[in-house]
Amino acid sequence: MQDRTKLAKKPADRYFEFQAVMGLTKHMGGLKATDVLAGLCRIGEGKFILDVGCGPGRTACYLAKVYGCRVMGIDLSESMVELARDRAAKEGVADKVTFCTADAMKLPFEEATFDAVIGESVLAFIDDKPRTLSELKRVTKEDGSIGFNECAWIKMPPQQLIQYISDVLGAAFLTPDGWRDLWVAAGLKEVSARSYKVRILEQWRSELKELEINEMFGAWRRFIGLLFRSPECRRWARKTLSMPRNIFALFKYFGYGIYVGRK
Ligand SMILES: C[S@@+](CC[C@H](N)C(=O)[O-])C[C@H]1O[C@@H](n2cnc3c(N)ncnc32)[C@H](O)[C@@H]1O
Repeated sequence: MQDRTKLAKKPADRYFEFQAVMGLTKHMGGLKATDVLAGLCRIGEGKFILDVGCGPGRTACYLAKVYGCRVMGIDLSESMVELARDRAAKEGVADKVTFCTADAMKLPFEEATFDAVIGESVLAFIDDKPRTLSELKRVTKEDGSIGFNECAWIKMPPQQLIQYISDVLGAAFLTPDGWRDLWVAAGLKEVSARSYKVRILEQWRSELKELEINEMFGAWRRFIGLLFRSPECRRWARKTLSMPRNIFALFKYFGYGIYVGRK
């Protein structure tokens, strides 16, 4: 597995590096939100889906198993792609799900390849969102869907909280209107935007339910190992722990949304 420690430059790189080592990523709302996204994007048998920023492949395998579609998962991180391939083999869906390393801004696919392009908690980490959407649109079939579940500021928080998120995660969340405007500006039709508040206990409960206990212990063991090995990651962890005083107010402002449009 490639060691991303030496490549890490931006806060998001370090965050994803932790996630790749742990083999865990997340999006708000868990698989319940994935079901809403799948419904809005008309995902079903016979469809070919692109999962952008697929992480360790949980959603891609879930969609193939539950909805009977074929899925191509792409991620910038080679380690994530390796984890995703292992998962597809373990879950017996390797004939329906394939993965490759690729950048959402420059996809290695022909025009109009996919019936739907989806992503969960990915665009917030990409600086040039309009350019990325235009690339996603290129690979979507006519009348196909582009649907994302992305974190959003339901209400704008104090600058200090925005800065903290940017410093530790490298993420720039938009407001629900900001996300919607992005979909409209990309020339997508029938744009729908649904917003949700994050209820932290519910979120933790769904994350625990979706994980196997040995998966979780293995993840934490690898996480602690990485902290020992990498001074850069220790610095990042220290920064993450030095939270602003008003951190607990975060959930007054923080939510997520499901944004869908048709090409
Ligand atoms: C927060 S994780 C979410 C992963 C997964 N979608 C989930 O819901 O668990 C974001 C993922 O997006 C990937 N990513 C970030 N920027 C990307 C880009 N430009 N192209 C492809 N993948 C990207 C990261 O490597 C990471 O695996």
